[in-house]
Amino acid sequence: MKHLLNIDQFDAEQIHDILDVAESYIHVPGNPVLKCNQLADTTVANLFFEPSTRTRSSFYLAAQQLGANVLDIDVNSSSHLKGESTLDTIYTLQAMNVNVFVIRSDMVISKGISSLVSDHVSVINAGEGSSSHPTQGLLDLMTIRQHKGSFEGLKVAIVGDLLHSRVARSAISGLSIMGVSDIRLISPRKLSIVKDNCIITESVEEGLQDADVVMVLRIQRERLDDSFNLGEYSTYFCVTQDRMKFAKPDAIVMHPGPMNRGIEIESSVADGEQSVILQQVTNGIAIRKAVLQLVRE
Ligand code: CP
Repeated sequence: MKHLLNIDQFDAEQIHDILDVAESYIHVPGNPVLKCNQLADTTVANLFFEPSTRTRSSFYLAAQQLGANVLDIDVNSSSHLKGESTLDTIYTLQAMNVNVFVIRSDMVISKGISSLVSDHVSVINAGEGSSSHPTQGLLDLMTIRQHKGSFEGLKVAIVGDLLHSRVARSAISGLSIMGVSDIRLISPRKLSIVKDNCIITESVEEGLQDADVVMVLRIQRERLDDSFNLGEYSTYFCVTQDRMKFAKPDAIVMHPGPMNRGIEIESSVADGEQSVILQQVTNGIAIRKAVLQLVRE
């Protein structure tokens, strides 16, 4: 694997292999995190042109724990603000022997970027526009596999702002690759997307019926206009304890973060026994370690 641009670049066997490598990086809570020098010859540059807490921090920690040099560029105080293009920023850092670029962008940049960078450089998509977020897709699959053992016969409900969600698009692609055929997409019509292999509904109760996995999406207020009524959204679409009764009793609740508590998810659900939201965060470091290792093999 030279680059990680999209989850669609993998088949099911390759995804299982990545999840297996990531499992080897899960460390027992409370134990010290052991650093290694596996990537001592590597310099990783984090280039985040959109805000991030989880993805940026976990790539930073993953690279650091594998012994890489890490440049965590603050684009808001970089020459990007003086008009330097993303590509010129990459070429500049390439000239400083950066080997791996971890890029989050509001634009789709993964298509074609691999032909623009040097042969010795890897690019990892850390979330681009509304189109894809492959490492989030992988950590979501890892979390589901940990709880459900396999993907066979799973019913997965994805509820929220599908229109703007790169998380949902990578999840749908990843789940489809793993053979999940029962994927329900739940949102108001204004925030819906059309996917041939998914069931589309505006009813949370219908979508959650007998679900094994309930994936709640963030309402992306920064991408919505002022006419969007958050109160109305929350009345009909917030995942509450009452609505969770429609899912299977052992259903897990996921959310990529950051959460709008009380809007798309009730706090009692986010913090409840079925929630695996913080486990997703922990798995994020393991997945990013696996990805960094694999692009440098
Ligand atoms: N899930 C996710 O991508 O979160 P951040 O925006 O905080 O990285």
